Amino acid sequence: MPAKNIVILVSGNGTNAQAIIESCHQSKINAKVCAVISNRPSAYALNRAKAANIDAICIDHELFESREAFDETLRKQIDEYQPDLVVLAGFMRILSSQFVKHYEGKMLNIHPSLLPLYPGLNTHKRAIENKDTIHGASVHFVTGELDGGPVVIQAQVNIAKDDTPDTLATKVAEKEWEIYPLAIAWYCDGRLTTAKDKLILDGKTLSRNGILYNEHLV
Ligand code: GAR
Repeated sequence: MPAKNIVILVSGNGTNAQAIIESCHQSKINAKVCAVISNRPSAYALNRAKAANIDAICIDHELFESREAFDETLRKQIDEYQPDLVVLAGFMRILSSQFVKHYEGKMLNIHPSLLPLYPGLNTHKRAIENKDTIHGASVHFVTGELDGGPVVIQAQVNIAKDDTPDTLATKVAEKEWEIYPLAIAWYCDGRLTTAKDKLILDGKTLSRNGILYNEHLV
């Protein structure tokens, strides 16, 4: 199967983008990252892309008058690369329904919670405040509902009594770097497909929470 083209959208540090770029270089993902695009000029993820000789592009959302105008410029830039998959990796902007529709079934996101728990922001703090004992991350396809699309895979971490939002974020991030490349590899190998609002992996329909990650999956 020919290698797929991936475009990654970022807003910040880019540790997930880094994990995906490395997995492509190591042939764990049969794909090429064509571009990393940020909506924030200061995103460190852009430096990571440049260091890997990948096109690093900033489209500063503050320079646009409306969400739709920004999204349209972003869409045109992405489509110049004719990607098979668009990967949101810490891209911290709500996308218009038109944009989401354009990439239906070919846009993934990673979210730092065990969805459907805690869509939105401050997930680690909310899990601690609710006295949860388990937290984690989810990879899901993007739909019009915020953090609401079908889940491909989740990874869990235990919340210790002395965990703070920062220590918990670190634990969750380490799992994110495992599950995001894995889900992307499945997609690029044609093993993961969408059918209406269901996900199919290797011919089997996934449950609502997707696959539960364990080390044997890598
Ligand atoms: C990650 O923890 C990701 O799950 C989260 O932003 C972080 C980005 O880190 N995404 C969201 O909260 C999206 N709703 P990174 O820039 O180091 O990859």
